[in-house]
Amino acid sequence: VDPETMLLPYLRKKLRLTGTKYGCGGGGCGACTVMISRYNPITKRIRHHPANACLIPICSLYGAAVTTVEGIGSTHTRIHPVQERIAKCHGTQCGFCTPGMVMSIYTLLRNHPEPTLDQLTDALGGNLCRCTGYRPIIDACKTFCKTSGCCQSKENGICCLDQGINGLPEFEEGSETSPKLFTEEEFLPLDPTQELIFPPELMIMAEKQPQRTRVFGSERMAWFSPVTLKELLELKFKYPQAPVVMGNTSVGPEVKFKGVFHPVIISPDRIEELSVIIHASNGLTLGAGLSLAQVRDILADVVQKLPEEKTQMYQALLKHLRTLAGSQIRNMASLGGHIISRHPDSDLNPLLAVGNCTLNLLSKEGKRQIPLNEQFLSKCPNADLKPQEILISVNIPYSRKWEFVSAFRQAQRQENALAIVNSGMRVFFGEEDGIIRELSISYGGIGPTTICAKNSCQKVIGRHWNEEMLDTACRLVLDEVSLPGSAPGGKVEFKRTLIISFLFKFYLEVSQILKKMNSVHYPSLADKYASALEDLHSRHQCSTLKYQKIGPKQHPEDPVGHPIMHLSGVKHATGEAIYCDDMPPVDQELFLTFVTSSRAHAKIVSIDLSEALSMPGVVDIMTAEHLSDVNSFCFFTETETFLATDKVFCVGHLVCAVLADSEVQAKRAAKRVKIVYQDLEPLILTIEEAIQHNSFFKPERKLEYGNVDEAFKVVDHILEGEIHMGGQEHFYMETQSMLVVPKGEDQEMDVYVSTQFPKYIQDIVASTLKLPANKVMCHVRRVGGAFGGKVFKTGTIAAVTAFAANKHGRAVRCVLERGEDMLITGGRHPYLGKYKAGFMNDGRILALDMEHYNNAGASLDESIFVSVLRKMGLLKMDNAYKFPNLRCRGWACRTNLPSNMAFRGFGFPQAGLITESCIMEVAAKCGLSPEKVRMINMYKEIDQTPYKQEINAKNLAQCWRECMAMSSYSQRKVVVEKFNAENYWKKKGLAMIPLKFPVGLGSRAAGQATALVHIYLDGSVLVTHGGIEMGQGVHTKMIQVVSRELRMPMSNVHLRGTSTETVPNANVSGGSVVADLNGLAVKVTVTAVYIPVVCITPHGSSSVSSRGYESDMNWEKGEGHPFEYFVYGAACSEVEIDCLTGDHKNIRTDIVMDVGRSINPALDIGQIEGAFIQGMGLYTIEELNYSPQGVLHTRGPDQYKIPAVCDMPTQLHISLLPPSQNSNTLYSSKGLGESGVFLGCSVFFAIHDAVSAARQERGLRGPLGLNSPLTPEKIRMACEDKFTKMIPRDEPGSYVPWNVPI
Ligand SMILES: Cc1cc2nc3c(=O)[nH]c(=O)nc-3n(C[C@H](O)[C@H](O)[C@H](O)COP(=O)(O)OP(=O)(O)OC[C@H]3O[C@@H](n4cnc5c(N)ncnc54)[C@H](O)[C@@H]3O)c2cc1C
Ligand code: FES
Ligand code: FES
Repeated sequence: VDPETMLLPYLRKKLRLTGTKYGCGGGGCGACTVMISRYNPITKRIRHHPANACLIPICSLYGAAVTTVEGIGSTHTRIHPVQERIAKCHGTQCGFCTPGMVMSIYTLLRNHPEPTLDQLTDALGGNLCRCTGYRPIIDACKTFCKTSGCCQSKENGICCLDQGINGLPEFEEGSETSPKLFTEEEFLPLDPTQELIFPPELMIMAEKQPQRTRVFGSERMAWFSPVTLKELLELKFKYPQAPVVMGNTSVGPEVKFKGVFHPVIISPDRIEELSVIIHASNGLTLGAGLSLAQVRDILADVVQKLPEEKTQMYQALLKHLRTLAGSQIRNMASLGGHIISRHPDSDLNPLLAVGNCTLNLLSKEGKRQIPLNEQFLSKCPNADLKPQEILISVNIPYSRKWEFVSAFRQAQRQENALAIVNSGMRVFFGEEDGIIRELSISYGGIGPTTICAKNSCQKVIGRHWNEEMLDTACRLVLDEVSLPGSAPGGKVEFKRTLIISFLFKFYLEVSQILKKMNSVHYPSLADKYASALEDLHSRHQCSTLKYQKIGPKQHPEDPVGHPIMHLSGVKHATGEAIYCDDMPPVDQELFLTFVTSSRAHAKIVSIDLSEALSMPGVVDIMTAEHLSDVNSFCFFTETETFLATDKVFCVGHLVCAVLADSEVQAKRAAKRVKIVYQDLEPLILTIEEAIQHNSFFKPERKLEYGNVDEAFKVVDHILEGEIHMGGQEHFYMETQSMLVVPKGEDQEMDVYVSTQFPKYIQDIVASTLKLPANKVMCHVRRVGGAFGGKVFKTGTIAAVTAFAANKHGRAVRCVLERGEDMLITGGRHPYLGKYKAGFMNDGRILALDMEHYNNAGASLDESIFVSVLRKMGLLKMDNAYKFPNLRCRGWACRTNLPSNMAFRGFGFPQAGLITESCIMEVAAKCGLSPEKVRMINMYKEIDQTPYKQEINAKNLAQCWRECMAMSSYSQRKVVVEKFNAENYWKKKGLAMIPLKFPVGLGSRAAGQATALVHIYLDGSVLVTHGGIEMGQGVHTKMIQVVSRELRMPMSNVHLRGTSTETVPNANVSGGSVVADLNGLAVKVTVTAVYIPVVCITPHGSSSVSSRGYESDMNWEKGEGHPFEYFVYGAACSEVEIDCLTGDHKNIRTDIVMDVGRSINPALDIGQIEGAFIQGMGLYTIEELNYSPQGVLHTRGPDQYKIPAVCDMPTQLHISLLPPSQNSNTLYSSKGLGESGVFLGCSVFFAIHDAVSAARQERGLRGPLGLNSPLTPEKIRMACEDKFTKMIPRDEPGSYVPWNVPI
């Protein structure tokens, strides 16, 4: 095998085991999780652990067994209980993350057949899901736990469900929860004796085969795996520059993302001496080859057995080992690899550095010991390993009496996220007198290496542990550990604040222990300070779901209204569901990759392709010149190009396309394309810069209602404000993928593509190839998540890929890597909202004047959406409120960023947030609660929107009332206030948000659908419709419709996917209406094809286009009927924040939704909660960072954090209103794909509430001005205190910041 090959491509391309998915390639998403098992012939034990196949060099697996999702069960044989339960508990939507989830749980169960909830959430910490919100996945896994169904934290015999949060009852009288969405009794039991055994041949091989050094080689590289320490040392002597690869979690990403190349690699994983565990009299010695997971187990055991005073360091290490990366990485990464990598944000090195640890080194020349100190961590040559030395083990001493060690970290997300700042701190008093004898403090995340505040510590030695000492220490440390304003990673003032906030926490922690040890000598901590001590913990998650009952008159065989499992659920879980890149290669297939612009606004001076063209395997490189007259296309008024012609307008602009025999060859050649640019002025990145340069897409839109100017004259108060909202990356788990196959006859072309809009792909490919549409067929079986991001940019990529396929008469595959995808495709529009509100003393808002600016990016390749977005933003900005006099104007800013796109909610999450922020401020001005002001201004039953569409808002009021009751809002508000009065450093916040979400695509043309139904003579039915299955379960709902209409079991109905061959001219799948419109078409079609009589009398096939939804809007008059109906809802969230670190935890969310009459409550609840968690991410942790030159820094899960398992609300309660009638919709159902995103802002406003409480207590008045996302940085810096005042501030303009808010 080629030592450069990783296990993931080996499985997918070579073995054609495509169940294991590619999501990021860097260990950050878990989609590629497999189980690795190894037999140790000395201990005779087998170790199973989860691992990321994308980072495992295939050579490192000699003698190991790899279990993939295909290996544990399949629909052809028997599915595994894990696969069954995740599917039947509705834990899959698009299904792309599911095989990884399955393998993480499977591995857990191999080691712990009855896991605890802690083990379970720990096992899933490294797996991301963009669709489900995790609740159903956790519910599925809980069925394996000994006790399931609740939080399992039975304090005083009362669990969270009995007790409610804050000790309040869960529901008001009369409320009830529904039965579970799945039937546990029907699950296959987990029988550990039935699991695959470790292959005996591998055991024999390990026992009997003569052990010798193995060498794997290719033309470029050699991989050595020695068997004895002596051989290892000799190899290291011979190849001193060769890395010693253990977990490859540090070397692997460097090779992949930074282009580092190592001609020789030494892999010492068979060297026993690297796995030593020695319990000596002065401490532990741990082998450098032990994985971080093994280190964690060893330390946990030692902490249990030894007295607390000896294990201070081990406890601190354990704290960080719990949150460091995900379970896969912890099981792969080694202690030695971690230490030697010396990552600036390493969690363990700052701790080990304060702990007097030493490193045991060995080379051919002999052994020696070096201290693990600042010099070593900053790679000082005289304190470092010599090139031929190996780290054998690490000595970690026991702590002594009167010695205390603590660990601190704050990251963008609580778990599986590199720390923004972390720290290790140790103090030694020597005796009871409280005089500091030794003090060590070090920080990670601050500079290029771990930094020790050595001088500061020296200066406070000999002083008493008191507040004066703390004050001096803070000032000294700030001086010593200085951070320039332009430091990489940004967040400079936050980092400075964390440096001393951690020190304060340490001071309090130690003070508390001293007090415990000698209560006479040491003063008690002020009660209110005690709240600084506890970290915010993820308590075990529990949830209740309340959904609609089936009416007694419904036929028992009729599946409509039942929680039917996703049609592909089981196939998702077994890895049999086929996504675009899972399709087998076509003969002579080529791979296409893009070269993109590295400049944001520049002239292309020259492109030199010569070197790239001479690389092996390269077939062609295409530029705009090659595409010539088909390089441009027109949307409305603007002409766009596929590949840049003479200028580039953003970093990530497509410049040329490299075509080669393989992906590896194409990527290598792409790096050799040389482009010379000449920068152009102006460079516009931010909305403010666009306003300054008057850089807008035309035309501007305005919506006006009543008489705003007159109303301002009569109101009691007027306030003006603004809010900025950052963008959001779609982060669909399956990146943009396609395979274009020329059919070789009549110029036909088949396009297999992951898109939401096959008709558009068909059109753009046909026009690029100058073919009629009937020659181009576009096929989509399923999409691994889309959220609005797989429409227009997909079309551009498809056009170029098809051009290449046509030119060479060969199939061409194009699959973007995660980083490329994030760079090229843009995301949700950042917004700036300005408002002026006129209101009365009682909170009634009589006049509102709004200006909305969105950052549309460089091009109009989304012109239709950009303009629609602006309209949508305007039409949706009222949310649930009746503003009698309203003016709202919207602009789309043309900037030098990748063009932003449609994204779930379509302008609503931004426009709604601006309105809610205004309401917050009005409430603050009136001295009322925001909820009161929300209620006062809410639509009444029969009302009219600003665009004069009639609405009946009865269900809005009902959702609000029910959410108030279900969440015990009033009682909890009191409890929160009490908590806040008693706790200075932790605050809680509670917020409730109403929702009126308009559904409809705003045009009559977009409100239609077609379906094709075949009934075969054996009675089986084949359905096709225009909707795309992207996780929302539309195909499942369609089969429910057919089953009801034809009165036949669902098993008789089949659905193969979507194709322009069967359903022409279908609309885009988006805007919450996919099931609505296609369902109506399917219903009409089946009734046309089949007239029910006593026996089945099929009439053959029928294709019927359905009228669908009407809509119109007259922008001149500002009135119309743009929407078909409204989805109503309300959400109440409670959070706790840590004022010292900016951390937050969502303690509880209650959601009430009006879904009409649900066709499938499991799928509908899935959409609501999945969207809610996505919205929560949008408003809190998902942060895109751009450099001042317009380069996107955040290009993968390492830098961009979407919610993970740890972000689930501790309690989640969802309730659907009883069924209501909607005459126009399919069985009175409502589309729920998008609306839930906005409810995520209840978390934003709950944090806002908590921050306000902190500021009030600190005597700070005036508007808060918090922007979205409300990251730990913003929370911490808003909770101003003596520490934020202490830090140095840089004059704006005196430095070049690392990032600019766009
Ligand atoms: C997705 C992801 C998330 C992460 N999250 C975190 C996090 O939250 N917190 C954190 O602190 N870290 C995090 N990390 C970093 C991780 O901890 C390190 O990558 C890991 O510990 C390195 O160990 P390894 O065995 O994989 O090293 P390898 O990549 O195998 O080797 C790294 C370096 O160490 C050298 N080396 C290894 N062993 C020896 C030896 N015995 N003697 C001499 N030289 C040796 C190698 O030559 C090489 O230069 C994350 C990494 C990834 C990929
Ligand atoms: S693909 Fe391996 S972790 Fe994302
Ligand atoms: S179901 Fe998890 S990413 Fe789609």
